[in-house]
Amino acid sequence: MSRKILVTGGAGYIGSHIVRQLGEYGYDVVVYDNCSTGIPQAVLYGELIIGDLSDINRLYQVFGKHQFDAVVHLAARLVVPESVAYPLDYYSNNTCNTINLLHCCNVMGVDKLIFSSTAAVYGESNQNFVTEDAPTSPINPYGRSKLMSELIIQDYARASTLRYVILRYFNVGGADPVGRIGQNSRATHLIANACNAALKRQSELKIFGTDFPTPDGTGIRDYVHVEDVATAHIDGLRYLEDGGNSEVVNCGYGEGYSVRQVVERVKAKAISGVDFPVINGDRRDGDPASVTASIQKIKKMLSWQPKYNNLDAIISSALAWEKRKLK
Ligand code: UD1
Repeated sequence: MSRKILVTGGAGYIGSHIVRQLGEYGYDVVVYDNCSTGIPQAVLYGELIIGDLSDINRLYQVFGKHQFDAVVHLAARLVVPESVAYPLDYYSNNTCNTINLLHCCNVMGVDKLIFSSTAAVYGESNQNFVTEDAPTSPINPYGRSKLMSELIIQDYARASTLRYVILRYFNVGGADPVGRIGQNSRATHLIANACNAALKRQSELKIFGTDFPTPDGTGIRDYVHVEDVATAHIDGLRYLEDGGNSEVVNCGYGEGYSVRQVVERVKAKAISGVDFPVINGDRRDGDPASVTASIQKIKKMLSWQPKYNNLDAIISSALAWEKRKLK
């Protein structure tokens, strides 16, 4: 009998890639998504239930109807500056709703969870390659809302039979290599903005801060392809199915690129071949200078083997997706 997985946020950017891979691997998928940023057409496998995680009665109904083997929990808000402006939305959506989901898991006996967390829990790390046991000290409400969720999951797991894999994603980018799905909501992140500048859908690309303590003064991030991030969830599920213990693991490539380096690659002849204006702007609230992952643990614990660890591959697939959206 095929295993049934609940994916919260499965109509969103990362979630839709996970759902597609779960379907391809023969899992039975139910997506629960309020479609505030996700879209129904992005759900290529399984059943979509449009609902909000704050509606716990609805959630109990869904758990009552389906017998889930595991939950993959992504539904959340994720834009750092927005979290600074609307912290309560982030704590309600990200933290309180995670508690609702855990209540359902508890009552209905679901004991495997993959949780979508973030490198934002580390804040300003002084490690060049941040390891999972580095101090967590988020510098924005988004990171704090996710860290609180992690702690709640860990406390609940200690008091129950729940086992979890918490995946701390670094900067997810790119799109389905054959162009079926990609980011649909209005993107705020660097690669999408730079692609939109190359496509002349925005007049310029503004760099948020050129005075960071980094070699070229701009922020450094570890960009990871959404396909590989999705695969990490499948690997995490298999790990738990095989009886693995609860773990927190980074999901990045362990390579950092500055904003200027990313912009150069978007402009490169082999990628867009389009020059566009780049404006030096002020730092954005809540942005750390540099965040790059140590990835020994995910490779060892989950046997994760990324296939697209190449900045050009991430940018090219993102650009192809943005072009499709234009049509
Ligand atoms: C992203 C994720 C966040 C995740 C974090 C992990 C999104 C929306 N946010 O945040 O959920 O926790 O990675 O590290 O996916 N920049 C510009 N100009 C732009 C856009 C961005 O200069 O137009 C700069 C930013 O200041 C930053 C870098 O590019 O230095 C990356 O920013 P962004 O792509 O927005 O992602 P993060 O804020 O790092």
